[in-house]
Amino acid sequence: MVVAGKRRRSGEDAGDAGDVERADAPSTRDGGAADEDTGAVASSTATKDDAARLVAQHYSGRANQTHQERKQSPIYRLRCLNNWVKSNLLQSKIRENDRVMDLACGKGGDLKKYARAKIASYLGVDIALESVRRDAVKRYNAEHAREFPAKFVAGDAFVVDLASVLPEYVRTLDVISCQFAIHYSLSTEERARRALRNVCTMLRPGGYFIGTTVDSNVLVRKLREADGLAFWNPVYEVEFDDAFKSKVFPTNQTDGFGIEYTFTLADAVTKCRECMVPKDVWVSLAAEYGLELVEWRNFHDYVHSQLSGVETRERASALWSQIMGDDSMSMTDEEWEAAYLYTTFVFRKSGSAEAAASAVFNRKPPAAPARIEQDDVLVLEGAA
Ligand SMILES: C[S@@+](CC[C@H](N)C(=O)[O-])C[C@H]1O[C@@H](n2cnc3c(N)ncnc32)[C@H](O)[C@@H]1O
Repeated sequence: MVVAGKRRRSGEDAGDAGDVERADAPSTRDGGAADEDTGAVASSTATKDDAARLVAQHYSGRANQTHQERKQSPIYRLRCLNNWVKSNLLQSKIRENDRVMDLACGKGGDLKKYARAKIASYLGVDIALESVRRDAVKRYNAEHAREFPAKFVAGDAFVVDLASVLPEYVRTLDVISCQFAIHYSLSTEERARRALRNVCTMLRPGGYFIGTTVDSNVLVRKLREADGLAFWNPVYEVEFDDAFKSKVFPTNQTDGFGIEYTFTLADAVTKCRECMVPKDVWVSLAAEYGLELVEWRNFHDYVHSQLSGVETRERASALWSQIMGDDSMSMTDEEWEAAYLYTTFVFRKSGSAEAAASAVFNRKPPAAPARIEQDDVLVLEGAA
């Protein structure tokens, strides 16, 4: 087990209720192409849906940790760094009174960040039903029900057409944020396209799509440096299967999907199937949906550039002191290495200033802030 600095053999019990993919779980390494005309694709899509459900059940099944438990976690400082990256990214793009979507909102752990940004409305979507219905709603009611109106949706955001089922006021959004989750959409081209179509149809012209995801260049580099098909340290483990023993990966649009590996992060996820996000493939796909890449920075580079940049350092440093706090508890080398596996991204939806102004001018006011009930959560296809 990586947490103890020793690798666990594949299939060995982690002793962790949060295992996503055990040896008997369906394999998802079957190449699902997006051609809807063939039966083979239908079965492949079904398998991908099974994989999505396993991911949902994993996240829904994880209990909310207390503050004390979080502080004792072996990745406490890494979590702080992740929070700093997310906070800084959100603050750099959200303006007061913006309408936002938190795509893959999980248990609503970022609600406070949105409150600090003084948003006008919040839409949270996640496939993990209980994370949304039990945890995110509870957190919203306890801390933010007087600050901004919220709508929560449970469903597979990489399958469902979100715009078609949501009220108008959440359909011309200023910012859509997807933190640590878009890689789950890259299992097939069809799912990746649905994710991007949802972003594009719900974002106003000139709006931003921001987030964090895996840095595939780093994953490939580390795999090539490794003796076998896995690399790890006491904090994380990444393992590819035999299909990638050549360590050569497709970079073209047809084959750049479903490149899977299993990921373990101490005290967070255990052997969870994730997908690579080949940058060129994803960026050119996003361009088809009018999303232009503004920035793409590995976490190491992001930390450095934000803390030293003339225009960014004041905000970035203030947040750093607030979130990273006490120097005596600095990140370990292993945590920094785990952080290196991730990248930030910023896309801007194309459109003229006139189109942006018209979208903002014509939209209806959001609902008033109010407590919500669990039954108010809109439950859609794929929620589990
Ligand atoms: C690592 S967690 C990140 C949660 C949150 N964004 C954060 O930063 O704390 C990944 C999240 O992606 C969600 N997710 C995975 N696949 C999804 C899908 N197909 N549709 C919506 N959410 C999904 C999971 O349920 C989980 O909450």
